Amino acid sequence: MIIGVPKEVKNNECRVGLTPNSVKCLVDSGHKIIFQKNAGAGIGYFDDQYLNAGAKLIQSAEEVYQSSEMIVKVKEPIPDEYGFLRDDLTLFAYLHLAGDPANAKKLIDTGVTGIAYETVTSDEGSMPLLAPMSTIAGQLAFIVGSYHLLKPYKGKGILLGEMENMNPRNVTVIGAGVAGTQSIIKAINNRAFVKVLDSSQSKLDDLMSRFGTNNIQYILSTEDSIQSSINESDLVIGSVYVVGKEAPKVVKKDMLMSMKPGTVMVDVSIDQGGCFETSKPTTHDDPIFVEDDIVHYCVTNMPGAVPLTATEALNSVTLPYIKELAQKGVQSTLETNKHIRNGLNIKGGEIIHPSVKEALEKE
Ligand SMILES: NC(=O)c1ccc[n+]([C@@H]2O[C@H](COP(=O)([O-])OP(=O)(O)OC[C@H]3O[C@@H](n4cnc5c(N)ncnc54)[C@H](O)[C@@H]3O)[C@@H](O)[C@H]2O)c1
Repeated sequence: MIIGVPKEVKNNECRVGLTPNSVKCLVDSGHKIIFQKNAGAGIGYFDDQYLNAGAKLIQSAEEVYQSSEMIVKVKEPIPDEYGFLRDDLTLFAYLHLAGDPANAKKLIDTGVTGIAYETVTSDEGSMPLLAPMSTIAGQLAFIVGSYHLLKPYKGKGILLGEMENMNPRNVTVIGAGVAGTQSIIKAINNRAFVKVLDSSQSKLDDLMSRFGTNNIQYILSTEDSIQSSINESDLVIGSVYVVGKEAPKVVKKDMLMSMKPGTVMVDVSIDQGGCFETSKPTTHDDPIFVEDDIVHYCVTNMPGAVPLTATEALNSVTLPYIKELAQKGVQSTLETNKHIRNGLNIKGGEIIHPSVKEALEKE
């Protein structure tokens, strides 16, 4: 198969779809890789490494798309790239269609076959291609949240860390899956008191057996339990996810009124439309805004802040799927591998994934 890897164009996005090692592995299996010049340079993967791995280097993104049967990239294409898409091309990337319905409709109209990393499943029922980025985003959520609690960065001016003779500070995590669990670990390690809210009692029970009950509370999420937790919190991290759907709005605008000014809210779920009603997407260049005295951090590509770690983590999970698609062909893979078929979001101008369809038809 001819596989194209364009340079990522989203704000501050230096991740790249394939590492030189992944390229070599695919070339050794008989596939042809068309790689856009400098696509890996931002993380020190230079063109000569890709040439040595067997890739053909091309200057323009347009030519990469034109020459390829399947595009492997990281983030969803932005509207500037839609003109490169066509109905005999497969796109394997994060798509997050429910997070941006207006652009999703234009993307669907290109006819491209879109297989979304975030809805590919595993036998255990997990999301194996979302998990590594959620692992990173969950850790970063605590880091950027702590940073923006500093007074010069618009927060209430407190330190989330060890202080003798002082009560621990409060961190609320809503949605305790892969990302939320990582935020919990960071918060525990920084001596915070953690309130964990999730809609799944079994998830809360599992977490209790893992983290115990010292300085941590497990709460079934309801509007009331969320309100009372966020009222007491210095940092609120929202990381809920319902496969393929727009994120449920677990914190409504009027709930902000009784929170303390300078509290920081990090909306990890912003790539699925955001789980706080007041969230709107931000970028690494301009990551926060303040609404009703509450600092909002809503960067849609948080792992883009650690692109080297993120690229390696992503390739370690995507490569077997890319190999299978390239080896068997897209159609045959979709027919025989139900987990990759679960990743199929759009094809021939139609929305295929039921949750994505429900989310977009609601608009
Ligand atoms: N912003 C970024 O850069 C970035 C990066 C990676 C992942 N993400 C996003 O982070 C989100 C979380 O991903 P994940 O892999 O941790 O998902 P996950 O499926 O592992 O966990 C989601 C959790 O949310 C819970 N949940 C669902 N609805 C809820 C509700 N109404 N109230 C409370 N809890 C609820 C589920 O029970 C589950 O425990 C996803 O939207 C993902 O796309 C964002």
